[in-house]
Amino acid sequence: MDAYILDWLQLIFRWLHVITGIAWIGASFYFVWLDNHLEAPPRWKVDKGIKGDLWAIHGGGIYEVAKYQMAPEKMPETLHWFKWEAYSTWLTGMVLLVLVFYVGADAYLIDTRVAELTQLQAIGIGLGSLLAGWLLYELLCATPLAGKGYLLGLTLVVLAVAFSWGLTQLFSGRGAYIHMGAIIGTIMAGNVFRVIMPSQRALVAAIESGSEPDPSWGAKAKLRSTHNNYLTLPLLFIMISNHYPMTYAHKYNWIILLAIIAISAFARHYFNLRHRGINKPIILVVSLLATAALAWAIMPRPSPMATASATVPDAARVEAIIVQRCATCHSATPTDDVFQVAPGGVILDDLQGMQRWAQRIQARTIDAPDMPFMNKTNMTDEERAIVSRWLAAGAPGELHGE
Ligand code: HEC
Repeated sequence: MDAYILDWLQLIFRWLHVITGIAWIGASFYFVWLDNHLEAPPRWKVDKGIKGDLWAIHGGGIYEVAKYQMAPEKMPETLHWFKWEAYSTWLTGMVLLVLVFYVGADAYLIDTRVAELTQLQAIGIGLGSLLAGWLLYELLCATPLAGKGYLLGLTLVVLAVAFSWGLTQLFSGRGAYIHMGAIIGTIMAGNVFRVIMPSQRALVAAIESGSEPDPSWGAKAKLRSTHNNYLTLPLLFIMISNHYPMTYAHKYNWIILLAIIAISAFARHYFNLRHRGINKPIILVVSLLATAALAWAIMPRPSPMATASATVPDAARVEAIIVQRCATCHSATPTDDVFQVAPGGVILDDLQGMQRWAQRIQARTIDAPDMPFMNKTNMTDEERAIVSRWLAAGAPGELHGE
């Protein structure tokens, strides 16, 4: 596909995905908030079957919201359901996955330093991992484990470890992270589609026919929405992690991914407890400390190669390396087959450009060995060491013609 058209399609679907994702998670946060701010209603409302109510002001209007114990005496004509937020987030996400990681598998998904896959193999493994992750989760929830909170949680953790490790042994760091995110997103959308919506339909049908709603549906829906609740923050992290090579491009990227999932789910726990009237700020403090510890543990240490020799490499030598290894993409006129516009607007055609971007070159080439992209231009460790020494010396060098 023409790179320009592909860029536009990606832009449009990324935009739609963000919008629908905000609508989904926003609605879900809003209803959790509602539930936790309901107050005891006045007598006349209790008599109508109302369990709690609240007042709010927004956008120039005052709202009165009431939640029924079960249902109103007569079902209203219009009942708003919340499901398309979830479905459309999943659908746009799948399109985006295909556009970025499957159409562009050679560039984004396959890293020949990790595994030599063909495009077809990579796509097969990718889609297979989504299906497998979702099926395993569904099967687990169908076993008696589903009733045992901690055991189920533990099994899910073991599964997450297996997937995180497995994916990073097959895909580029970015590709592995995004597939983990897509598995979580599929599980969440699947929960809405397979369990939460049917249980709501069953509830409405029971009320309309005047029969007792089956409580097992409600319990199942509750379990799945609790899972979704804990998965929101990890999912959102994974979706933005592609901007941060210090995570996905690290040697231990699979452990980092698991650590971040654990920390962000734990932070969610604070809000869930608070909603039940339990205030444990220590949870947030522990999450913050854990994040700081993680950041410290994966902090780039100056490589011995960079410090071994005190000689500052010649600027012309560094310029030659960067032009050869980076400017195929990072140029005003790139020659790369995939990237036909300088990625991120980073242009490294000459010394001036290299000095301007020195800090980012440090971040992307030395601290996290994420550039050259998938090491497509075969930069050697020795060249990295030379660039590193030059950066450590403050990126010195005269500009041409000055
Ligand atoms: C095969 C193409 C390709 C090559 C070669 C390449 N890059 Fe990149 N670069 C990319 C792409 C794609 C992005 C945008 C994606 C991203 O930001 O992760 C990018 C982004 C960047 C960014 C901007 C992001 C930021 O963090 O500010 C920097 C800096 C960078 N590359 C530096 C380099 C350096 C230095 C080299 C050579 C050692 C290099 N790149 C070689 C494709 C390439």
